[in-house]
Amino acid sequence: MCGIVGYAGDVNCPSMRPLEVCLQGLERLEYRGYDSAGVALTAPGMDRVAVRKKAGRLSNLVEDIEARPLPDATVAIGHTRWATNGVPNDVNAHPHASRDGKVAIIHNGIIENASQLRLDLQAEGYRFVSGTDTEVAAKLLGKIVDTVIAETGEPDLFEAMRRLGRMLEGAFTILAVDCRQPGIVVGARHDSPLVVGLGEGENFLGSDVAAFVAYTKTAMEIGQDQAVMIDAHGVAVTDFDGNDVPEPVVYEIDWDASAAEKGGWDSFMDKEIHEEPAAVQRTLIGRLDDEGRLNLDEVHIDEHDFKTVDKIIVIGCGTASYAGMVAKYAIEHWVRIPVEVELAHEFRYRDPILTPRTLVVAISQSGETMDTLMALRHAREQGSKVLAICNTQGASIPRESDAVLYTHAGPEVAVASTKAFVAQITAAYVLGLYLAQLKGTVFRDEIAQTLDSLKDMPRKIQWVLDTQPSKVSAAARQLRDANSFLFLGRHVGYPVALEGALKLKEIAYTFTEGFAAGELKHGPIALVDEGEPVVFIVPPARGRNVLHAKVISGIEEVKARGATIIAVAEEGDADVERYADVVFWRPECPTLMSPLVDVVPLQLLAMDMAKQKGYDVDKPRNLAKSVTVE
Ligand code: F6R
Repeated sequence: MCGIVGYAGDVNCPSMRPLEVCLQGLERLEYRGYDSAGVALTAPGMDRVAVRKKAGRLSNLVEDIEARPLPDATVAIGHTRWATNGVPNDVNAHPHASRDGKVAIIHNGIIENASQLRLDLQAEGYRFVSGTDTEVAAKLLGKIVDTVIAETGEPDLFEAMRRLGRMLEGAFTILAVDCRQPGIVVGARHDSPLVVGLGEGENFLGSDVAAFVAYTKTAMEIGQDQAVMIDAHGVAVTDFDGNDVPEPVVYEIDWDASAAEKGGWDSFMDKEIHEEPAAVQRTLIGRLDDEGRLNLDEVHIDEHDFKTVDKIIVIGCGTASYAGMVAKYAIEHWVRIPVEVELAHEFRYRDPILTPRTLVVAISQSGETMDTLMALRHAREQGSKVLAICNTQGASIPRESDAVLYTHAGPEVAVASTKAFVAQITAAYVLGLYLAQLKGTVFRDEIAQTLDSLKDMPRKIQWVLDTQPSKVSAAARQLRDANSFLFLGRHVGYPVALEGALKLKEIAYTFTEGFAAGELKHGPIALVDEGEPVVFIVPPARGRNVLHAKVISGIEEVKARGATIIAVAEEGDADVERYADVVFWRPECPTLMSPLVDVVPLQLLAMDMAKQKGYDVDKPRNLAKSVTVE
């Protein structure tokens, strides 16, 4: 949710750079929210902070600034909003200013005691122009700065921010600038992300490293309940009481700014789907030794603790939870221990049974999903070990977990998750096979064979990308006006059906439902009418797969009721050819590997249909990339 960027440069040389850095950072962060955007900047000699903000996409703000240029600055903050509090309009857009206009802030999160604070300030004569919690924090911060000046004779935005941090409840990352201290930007975070970018003669703040990766690849983590101050030459970090904190972790960002650019593709979603072979391949690199054994030295959980794990609970939301559902089939098969998969927001509130022998696996692309973060904290409080599968270095979820297995899919910018899904399945399979290796539940040869199949999957995904898109586009044209779709699958095809349904609803705004195909006769078949598109994920027929026959029966049943059948099936499946109106082929692969290829035509179908309907596939309405509020 909301993207945040801050910049501090040379206080003796006001220039356009702070504004440029903020606008470019916001462009890269726009996937976090696109209801409105704004900037605030200041420089020596200004008696108010300059604020400019506009409802709608960032481009509206840029046009407005081009029409009415802003002054040169030494520091700036910028915000792109996903509205949680107050409708998206110019007034509610961030930044918000203090009563005297000398301080401006931007905010990500929800301040839960904002109503009470607003009443307290109103009782003192403060007036509010917006319905946001952020304006409350801005007015309050301005008031605190005045108190600090009264106490010490000097403005001290850093100290004021710490005091604000102690007063706010809920989740927040806040950045602020003050025209009386035009060389610094200060920030505070509680349950919401914030990272520092370390430059030469300039420093940066961002809600993730995408905000500043074009300028520096060195980043610093800011911990929970910490406040930070940057100027051109340094960074100071304390807790909210002003105490020093342990040396913050500094790390090198492992991707280039170009990885977060479209690079000639029509959309980020298109680019990211086409990066899936590389995402799987990179997630395997460094984890297999020459003898076909898995090596997970990077996972700092004691071998003994791993060996004694007697239950796994996978937590995640949306696409990440479907990757977890796929992993359940594989891990239970290989490791012979129960695997539960649970939506993170449900898990936390239902008093789950957790012991020190339970391994909780938290799957998250962004590493900042609040529901998943809260769930993992709950699991750790109960004494369970948590292993994160995450795509974002240094994010809150890996930082707060006992261990992390990074997916190396590269930055995912399109709001709808695609390459992260295949990378998450790959990482979960690596974990499952590693546990099987440790516990000795699968013969060594079989592990090596399975790893060989996994290593072959990038080639198979590439085959789908090379051979199926024109068929997918034709189907999208044929079906784009359908009012609803059903998606059905069995075994690992079931979570793939759920994921296909999610993709289509979130970017093409088509009503979809995903079901386990076995449920058909228990209710969903009532929805089937003449022409209703029904997508089946068909398991391989090879090896007398009994599930193949069952899925084919399901196809026959809905066909008899006039449905239009779209199937994802193994190349040459004659039964499918007989009944289906459209078939997207997968190359031959073991059943457990099939989700890695089967999801690809479904992602392409959703993307094509959305494009044909004229929608922005990268920024679907009402959504934001990383859901940092509950
Ligand atoms: C769907 C989608 C979401 C995310 C979910 C979890 O396309 O992107 O369902 O998968 O919000 O996000 P992460 O993986 O960042 O925790």
